[in-house]
Amino acid sequence: MMIETRLPLMRPRLPEPARFAPRLAAMHASGMYSNRGPQVLELEERMAGFLGTSPDRVITVANATLGLMGALCLSPELTWSAPSWTFSATIAAALQAGKRLTLVDARPEDWWIDPPATTDGILSVAPFGSGVDPARIDPDRETVIDAAASLGARIGPLAGLPPRAAVVFSIGATKVLGAGEGGIVVFGDPDRARRFASWTLLGFEGARASSFLGINARMPEITAVVAHAALDDWERERDEWRAARRLATAVETALGMEPVPLRGADAHPYWIVRFPHQAARQAAERSLAAAGIDSRRWWADGCHRQPAYAALPRHALPVTELLAATTLGLPFSRSLTRADTERIHDALDRAAVS
Ligand SMILES: Cc1ncc(COP(=O)(O)O)c(C=O)c1O
Repeated sequence: MMIETRLPLMRPRLPEPARFAPRLAAMHASGMYSNRGPQVLELEERMAGFLGTSPDRVITVANATLGLMGALCLSPELTWSAPSWTFSATIAAALQAGKRLTLVDARPEDWWIDPPATTDGILSVAPFGSGVDPARIDPDRETVIDAAASLGARIGPLAGLPPRAAVVFSIGATKVLGAGEGGIVVFGDPDRARRFASWTLLGFEGARASSFLGINARMPEITAVVAHAALDDWERERDEWRAARRLATAVETALGMEPVPLRGADAHPYWIVRFPHQAARQAAERSLAAAGIDSRRWWADGCHRQPAYAALPRHALPVTELLAATTLGLPFSRSLTRADTERIHDALDRAAVS
């Protein structure tokens, strides 16, 4: 019998070294390796163009978790609503920023939260690469959106971001436009953006003394070098994500599965499927594992079930509980092939009839 190789959950792929060699050489010649050097400043300018806003509102950061933490640290509000249906990083960042969180449920129609009026700030997540529409943000409340996987989504021009809002993207290796580790934070208010840049430099504002409490969260030049190469090749990357998505959609259609409601998603790095009930999900997990195919429950059982967050105040979470019981992440990457999706199709099909 032929032994099939393991099908991994993700195949992260950064730009080819040859694509960033010239910028790497320029960085080396400049002798500037960090501290908001020329590669980082040019990346902020290019990202502003990419996201439809001005460069004075876009600041790079060492990773999206620190981006979330900094955006929250700079907000005057203390009490925040946050989803339980998200990755641990969203909640960790808010708690490290000293905020008081209340966990709230996801909406069934798009998996975003409906924040209650009882907290001052809103910390939302754009689930699994969903789009971000500035027109839907309440201009009267402090808002931070964790859009970690959404750089390839449909993003309304972020020039329309209200002054009290910030959106945080990741360029980690497994994300769209991946550069290894890194984040991009877009602010509605250029003064907040400027302060955030200082926050990433220990609160330095020109002088070599911390004028307020910050941290070292700056993006190194070498990360920006790689991110430039990813942007140079963006259209090809986007087309590869879209081609992989078509293969995934074909499997869902063939098996009669409802697509999950990721509003505004386009080029996004996850394949999430939903089963009618938990037993069907578990059967699929077993069948995939038996066929050497990795799968993952990306957000586990929701953050409220994780020991670090179990004591947080929370609302009833029936949708979160349901999504945790019935959804599953399948192997996905821009290198996904038809042979891969045929294997996945067959394993899911076997689970359905077993
Ligand atoms: C929803 C969400 N938020 C935050 C993060 C953290 O991003 P980073 O790895 O850039 O810190 C991730 C990473 O996977 C994520 O999925």
